[in-house]
Amino acid sequence: MSPQSNAAIQNGEEPAILLDSINKSFGSVVAIENLSFHVNKGEIVSFLGRTGAGKSTALNLIMGNFGPTKGRVRVMGMDPNKDFKKLRQTISVGFQTDRLLPWRTTVENVELGLLILREPKAQAREKALEWLDRVNLTAAANLYPHELSGGMRQRASLARALAIDPEILLLDECFSQLDHVTSQTLRADVSEVIRKYNKTCLFITHRIDDAIEMADRILVLGAPARLLLEESPTEEDRTDRDKFRILHDKIAAALGVDA
Ligand SMILES: Nc1ncnc2c1ncn2[C@@H]1O[C@H](COP(=O)(O)OP(=O)(O)OP(=O)(O)O)[C@@H](O)[C@H]1O
Ligand SMILES: [Mg+2]
Repeated sequence: MSPQSNAAIQNGEEPAILLDSINKSFGSVVAIENLSFHVNKGEIVSFLGRTGAGKSTALNLIMGNFGPTKGRVRVMGMDPNKDFKKLRQTISVGFQTDRLLPWRTTVENVELGLLILREPKAQAREKALEWLDRVNLTAAANLYPHELSGGMRQRASLARALAIDPEILLLDECFSQLDHVTSQTLRADVSEVIRKYNKTCLFITHRIDDAIEMADRILVLGAPARLLLEESPTEEDRTDRDKFRILHDKIAAALGVDA
């Protein structure tokens, strides 16, 4: 039996994301086994697990790309697999590879989601430029993806995800391809944006440091995806080297990796 997430559901309010006793199999492969957790509105939660643990599968369930084999998934109270259209503007996703279109400039990439949602062109452009400014990319608005550094491309990708003003941001290994310093700066920027605009964020990472630095709550998953450990890092855990190390080692032990 996996432990169930024991964090309180905020003020009895509907959580932004709820997975209740989920199983998900692909043929004979069990990707998720009895997984339950929720993400409250305004929370930043990190999914930490080894490769193949079923993290992306959980994200796909939240996006409504497929339904669970067993259990209940709710996003803002809706079933994402059924209410896919209604949730289109609620959820945005940032991926490990930035998925920018090479023939569109940075601003044209950022406004794309808005155009798909049928926002008028001038308004879409205005919002795209605002988000480029928020991620410090104004100077790169008219450059093409191949003219940007890896960090700039990830920033553009995040601006694109945020431009549709989603309530929920899902990030799948968004920072893992960047060097340590770039990744750290971007994580700090993203946390700031999420808090400032009161977004809800679930982000996948395999780096323990990323999770401690960014998350209100860390869910450590075993394979197939099931909850092994849940931790809520405090400000002290982030700033005090010894505390950081203790939490890091505890998570590493749960993951079964060398610290
Ligand atoms: N569409 C699919 N069809 C068949 N098997 C799948 C499918 N999607 C995922 N799986 C399997 O489910 C398991 C979990 O995969 P998933 O991609 O969710 O892991 P992950 O935790 O995101 O791994 P990584 O850290 O490598 O991205 C794996 O064994 C994978 O092969
Ligand atoms: Mg994955």
